[in-house]
Amino acid sequence: MSLKDKLQGRTPRTAIILGSALGDVVEIVRDPLVIPYTELPGFPVPKISGHAGKLYVGEVAGQQVAVLAGRAHPYESGKADVMRPALDQLKEAGIETLVLTNAAGSLKLSMKPGSLMMLTDHINYSGMNPLIGQHGDENFVPMTNAYDPGLRKALLAAAKKEKIALKQGVYCWYSGPSFETPAEIRMFQIIGGSAVGMSTVPETIMARRLGMRVCAISTITNLAAGIKGASPSHEETKREGQKAAGNMKRLLTRFFKDMKA
Ligand code: HPA
Repeated sequence: MSLKDKLQGRTPRTAIILGSALGDVVEIVRDPLVIPYTELPGFPVPKISGHAGKLYVGEVAGQQVAVLAGRAHPYESGKADVMRPALDQLKEAGIETLVLTNAAGSLKLSMKPGSLMMLTDHINYSGMNPLIGQHGDENFVPMTNAYDPGLRKALLAAAKKEKIALKQGVYCWYSGPSFETPAEIRMFQIIGGSAVGMSTVPETIMARRLGMRVCAISTITNLAAGIKGASPSHEETKREGQKAAGNMKRLLTRFFKDMKA
């Protein structure tokens, strides 16, 4: 049974994918229907710590939302399209808007750990693309305004109301799972990146292919490798990601409240 058949009459139009250590953000969902990924064919059962592997469907600020607590990353399998079955089922279930979240390292001293950064654009530095091997002209997906200008405006307005200093920037996708070298980080700074992480970009590409509107927010968990001597670790990502979860909850709750109005 696919997601559509398991919704028990619920009709979410927006989905959120939660990044590393942001699992607590599900607490904003009221009266959720909880479906383990193991019951959803093709949903990836996360193999790394910090990702729960459950789908929550319920209300946030009066709006029905589907929240994916946990994602699979291309570095777990080498497959850039590991989230395709999940995204296809979200689309089939009526999802029109996708809010992606992640943990990322900062490329700028002015963007400190604990900050939230809204993506304005991305750089795909992975050498992978989830649409490779798909056939048909529809796969030449335009990536101008991949991060929807209207949703970005709404996020900025929500942040202002909540007095959250939401940064904006360009996210670089690095395949991982090893972290970057300091030389790679210097390169990302030179080519116009603001933050670096190991997810989100393939999901954005597939969601745009499916015609969904996309926005994305990074929680900055660390300065990237070599900046002020930084040496990122997964422990740090989980710890610092949890600290930023409070602001992420407030930002998203306000975003949904005002989206409805
Ligand atoms: N690099 C890549 N991915 C990350 C980082 C980083 O510094 N921090 C959190 N996710």
